[in-house]
Amino acid sequence: MTQPSQEIIRGARAAMSRLADRNTPFIFNEWYVAAFSDEVGRSLLKRTLLGKRLVLFRTGEGKPVAMDDRCVHRSYPLSAGQLDGDTVVCGYHGLRYDQNGDCIEAPAVAKCPKNIGVRTYPLAERGPVLWIWMGDPALADESAIAALPWMQDSAWAGAKGYYDLKSSYVYLHENLLDTSHLSYMHANTIGSPDYVKAPTTSEIGEGRFALVRTVSPTKLPPVWAKPTGLEGVPTASRIVRNEFLSPALYEVTTRLYDSALPEGDRPEFLIKVAHMASPATHNSTHYFIYLGRDFAQDDAAATQFMATNFFKAFDEDVAGLSLLEEVIAEQGDELYEISIASDALGVAMRRYLKGRADQEASAQASAAPAPAATAGRAPVVMMQQS
Ligand code: FES
Ligand SMILES: [Fe+2]
Repeated sequence: MTQPSQEIIRGARAAMSRLADRNTPFIFNEWYVAAFSDEVGRSLLKRTLLGKRLVLFRTGEGKPVAMDDRCVHRSYPLSAGQLDGDTVVCGYHGLRYDQNGDCIEAPAVAKCPKNIGVRTYPLAERGPVLWIWMGDPALADESAIAALPWMQDSAWAGAKGYYDLKSSYVYLHENLLDTSHLSYMHANTIGSPDYVKAPTTSEIGEGRFALVRTVSPTKLPPVWAKPTGLEGVPTASRIVRNEFLSPALYEVTTRLYDSALPEGDRPEFLIKVAHMASPATHNSTHYFIYLGRDFAQDDAAATQFMATNFFKAFDEDVAGLSLLEEVIAEQGDELYEISIASDALGVAMRRYLKGRADQEASAQASAAPAPAATAGRAPVVMMQQS
């Protein structure tokens, strides 16, 4: 029995210390998906994002609003109160907040105290998803939201799904970049035995990590073959581009065709999947998925078949990552992981996440005011009694 030597374990731990993991602070200066657009309506939606409790709703005019889900009075969750017109009324003592988060009424007193309220967050709606910025408001730039035009294009048919993933978003991103797992974790769904050995090329840029895998010739599993009509074709090509676009977003593009037919004279089929990872806590993630195709757009049976079968594969990832999280949590300080050459992209991506988190932490530390020499008294907001 060959176990790693202490030297190998020490080396593995030293390498791990430079990578993001479940303990790495969240990256706040980033757009994340807060919800699918149709989840947010005229009722209060409670959601934890980046470790913070939020409440989301729409005004009567349809404008989405996100605010802290904690009443400034005695911390009652606002999501347990009422949406009244465009205001939120706390369910404990009735403080009322407008859509800007300002407290505009305190029923127990004649005059509502000025300058108290809850933080609201910039939101941007893009097709089926609602993005949120929870970082420095001065840095919120909507043009930084990755354009996924296919998600809003009528020439594409789509299906969506959501998982309450019991795992850190870091491991989800790594899972998505390391597609060698398709031949094993997805052996009976989207994978095929030849996938793991198929040639790949990697692209590493600032915050962009992509893997292109060419599986050709191959025989496609039914989930790919049936809707494209490539069933039983031994010369199919499956070209897959897996791309990390941001800490919140990952896109997979798969091109399928019969390589026996001449280029330019053969039908080609594109399938895209947006994997949107929004950390809830350090070991749980809101995992939003949007699946699109550029063919058979009006074929409801194809939509149903693909949604059912692709989500079977995503179920496998979610179950697998939850298992992984359990083991990692149990290991505590004993944990070590040994990376192999095929992990290069995942390792680079995790280094990038850690770099972003460290950068934010040090910027915050240098912006924080120096501690006072003597402790001051905390200001008290008094509510005037009528
Ligand atoms: S806790 Fe919200 S009004 Fe008192
Ligand atoms: Fe997977």
